[in-house]
Amino acid sequence: MTYPMPSPALLARLSERLGPSGFATEPADLAPWLTDWRRRLTGSAAALVSPANAEEAAFVVAQAAAEGVAIVPQGGNSSMVAGATPAGIGEGRALLVSMRRMRAIRSVSPADNAVTAEAGVVLADLHAAVEAQGRRFPLSLASKGNATVGGLISTNAGGTQVLRFGPMRSLVLGLEAVLPDGSMLRGLAPLRKDNRGYDLKQLLIGGEGTLGLVTAATLKLVPAIGEKAVAWVGFRDPEQALALLRRLEDRLGEAIESFELVPAEGLALVLRHIPNTRAPLGQAWPWNVLIEAVAPAGDAPLGARLEAALADALDAGLIGDATLAASEAQADAFWKLRESMSEAEARDGMAAKHDISVTVADMPAFMARASAAVVERFPGARPIAFGHLGDGNVHFNVRAPAGGDDRAWFKATAADVSRFVHGLVTEAGGSLSAEHGIGRFKRADFLHLIDPARLAAMMAVKRALDPAGIMNPGALLPLAEAASGP
Ligand code: MLT
Ligand code: ZN
Repeated sequence: MTYPMPSPALLARLSERLGPSGFATEPADLAPWLTDWRRRLTGSAAALVSPANAEEAAFVVAQAAAEGVAIVPQGGNSSMVAGATPAGIGEGRALLVSMRRMRAIRSVSPADNAVTAEAGVVLADLHAAVEAQGRRFPLSLASKGNATVGGLISTNAGGTQVLRFGPMRSLVLGLEAVLPDGSMLRGLAPLRKDNRGYDLKQLLIGGEGTLGLVTAATLKLVPAIGEKAVAWVGFRDPEQALALLRRLEDRLGEAIESFELVPAEGLALVLRHIPNTRAPLGQAWPWNVLIEAVAPAGDAPLGARLEAALADALDAGLIGDATLAASEAQADAFWKLRESMSEAEARDGMAAKHDISVTVADMPAFMARASAAVVERFPGARPIAFGHLGDGNVHFNVRAPAGGDDRAWFKATAADVSRFVHGLVTEAGGSLSAEHGIGRFKRADFLHLIDPARLAAMMAVKRALDPAGIMNPGALLPLAEAASGP
């Protein structure tokens, strides 16, 4: 299936309706947005189209649909899996639709505990806007300075507070989106209950832009942080870390929001490559966990309760050592260690990156088994697992052997490593994408390993809503079938 070039008449109509700030064809204007975040894939597009409001977005999609022209939606271009890169569609055939001009916070309703934000609002700006109203949007991740509301929704993003509040899917109350035929799905009311049949917004959440273009969303808010306690804990093994998590929940209930794993090797990489970092504990432990507990204003002192619970765990021999951040600055320093993991790893060399989940209880054994299997199958390769242990989701990355040509290793071996790791996680009943999505980088493994009945149902939905396959071709689903159908 080849997608048509947008006709000159189509481009002229878009240019006229969107004006110079919303329509560009100059290579220099397009170039920054054609390469993915990890700088591994570059695509091409006929034009960069940036609607300023939902009506313009609907106009763009309707115009593209009339000619069967492919659309690749883009938010902050921080996808880890090239979900927003217009590649594989045919040279200069796609319209790259950037949502960055749609960055209005339409309303904040403390009474409804809800905010309505347009798709191009950057996550850090959303945090600031609702904080100013005494509320909090409880989803955060390392790329909060780039990631946008539309992208977070389209990838069902996770981050570091999923343990308490769930991923994006559980935080969206309402959605406004353009469907592939140009019609608008309008449902921004912050209804807590709505049983009118299929929950269509849930199809678009995590749909990776293949079923429509999200233009705005109404998101759940929670009370502002009253008190926060952050601890860094050293362990001998991750089984003990999970035992600690359940114990802390018994003592502090829902206050535990983050439970993030950092292995000794990961901490060493951060200390080596990231300036102004220091180890929180006097001794190096094989595993570390960063814990954050949060309570609304007026609750009993949280730091003291977390400290007492950790002291008991230390007495019981469950943990090796622990330290509580004594100030906001120290808490930020602990978080910097965790959030710099990916950057430190990238500075150190190439790695095959994975974003996997199994059940929380199975994760410690899975990490041990999978690490041994990888090393046996790819001698010298260096697995390193870090991340959201409390959610049963780690980034199980495999670094190139030490001292060699890591680029050559990556080119020759990374795809095999990934297929192997994804096979192991699928066999274990887990998922090969816990929070980053499938995009273009994981599509081949996803299609190879997915249950055929599940894929058939997904394809049926795709064909029903986007029969011409114009929405984000090549992300998530197979390119040709998505476009033409069997
Ligand atoms: C993280 O949890 O740090 C990211 O999701 C992982 C990554 O950037 O690879
Ligand atoms: Zn992550």
